[in-house]
Amino acid sequence: MLKIMSIAGARPNFMKLASIARAIRSHNEKGSTPAVEHIIVHTGQHYDKKMSDSFFIDLNIPQPDINLEVGSGSHASQTADIMQRFEPVLLEQLPDALLVVGDVNSTIACTLVASKIEYPEGHSRRRPIIVHVEAGLRSFDRGMPEEINRILTDAISDILFTTEEQCLTHLQNEGIAKEKVYFTGNVMIDTLMQHVEQAAQSTIKEQLHITGEYTLVTLHRPSNVDRQETLQPLVKCIEEIASTKHIVFPVHPRTFNKMKEFSLLDALEKNPNITLAGPLGYLDFLNLIKDASVVITDSGGIQEETTVLKVPCVTLRENTERPVTVDIGTNYLIGVDPDKIKETVFNIFSGKGKKGAIPPQWDGKTGERILKVILSVH
Ligand code: UD1
Repeated sequence: MLKIMSIAGARPNFMKLASIARAIRSHNEKGSTPAVEHIIVHTGQHYDKKMSDSFFIDLNIPQPDINLEVGSGSHASQTADIMQRFEPVLLEQLPDALLVVGDVNSTIACTLVASKIEYPEGHSRRRPIIVHVEAGLRSFDRGMPEEINRILTDAISDILFTTEEQCLTHLQNEGIAKEKVYFTGNVMIDTLMQHVEQAAQSTIKEQLHITGEYTLVTLHRPSNVDRQETLQPLVKCIEEIASTKHIVFPVHPRTFNKMKEFSLLDALEKNPNITLAGPLGYLDFLNLIKDASVVITDSGGIQEETTVLKVPCVTLRENTERPVTVDIGTNYLIGVDPDKIKETVFNIFSGKGKKGAIPPQWDGKTGERILKVILSVH
């Protein structure tokens, strides 16, 4: 029996965990050996039903065995809180492997605890093997909290699974031995492929009264939403685009709070060309991406999902840790200059959008490949 403990904390983790959980379930159902016990720990970083629970239901992820219920806070207090609450859980469960995904505060907090833990004397291991899924992505922007989380998590992981070929070079440049790194592809795309048909059945467009073509917008990156001087021109730009094509904008709680604080919400709510919604479930959101004319976003994962669905994506960031989506896929890295955003979006409206291709290893089988490696090296 091999005991794997997985960590999930924030929304983008859940799609990644779903693929791993599915691979483990299928391994056990086939009666393959060794049997794998899978313990899921939810840190509680995201706690709203719409930011968390609905994903477990939509994606058929087993309910977390343990919830640390940390909630929101500053980076320091949230990270510290997760670490303090996670340490006794790890010492009680003593898993063979700790699997972390992505780059959120929960990822680094639990990795750091596991790297220094001492299992009790007599146990066959001193600490769990640390497995990082989605390793080696780099934006080279250390102003992004996620970039710090990525660098630190990779530095202290034992097995690193990457989504793009370039990730290996980044890791080697940071002194990480190439023997630890496996290019297995993208677990988030596994989950997308498994759910795209089901997502097509979603009635979200009817619920939001969307009948024609539309542009889908998401914004949540602190660098775009936390300051009025950046958020206000972006909102104005969205309003201008909406006068050409309808906009659907599911609003992240961080962005909602900031738009309210800066008195930007009223005008958006009153605009007949804009449909605002709260955070959406996975299947509903996938349905909206799939049929959008363009997606405008600052998310990391959406750059990858649009590439696979062949929908043009305009990314409101100066850099991306996922360059394959620009080089091979449908992504445009534009930044936050309203004129450049409008020019790109209108160009795509006129039919000149990238068609793109699917990056290597993004074939829906990454979760199985990852489990195979873990079983062979544990
Ligand atoms: C986190 C991740 C980010 C990821 C994003 C997806 C870090 C450093 N950032 O950012 O990489 O892209 O999740 O959403 O880990 N809030 C709620 N309900 C919730 C969760 C949050 O209302 O369930 C509000 C709170 O006001 C909170 C704010 O959103 O303070 C930000 O949440 P937090 O988890 O700190 O960061 P995100 O911006 O969501």
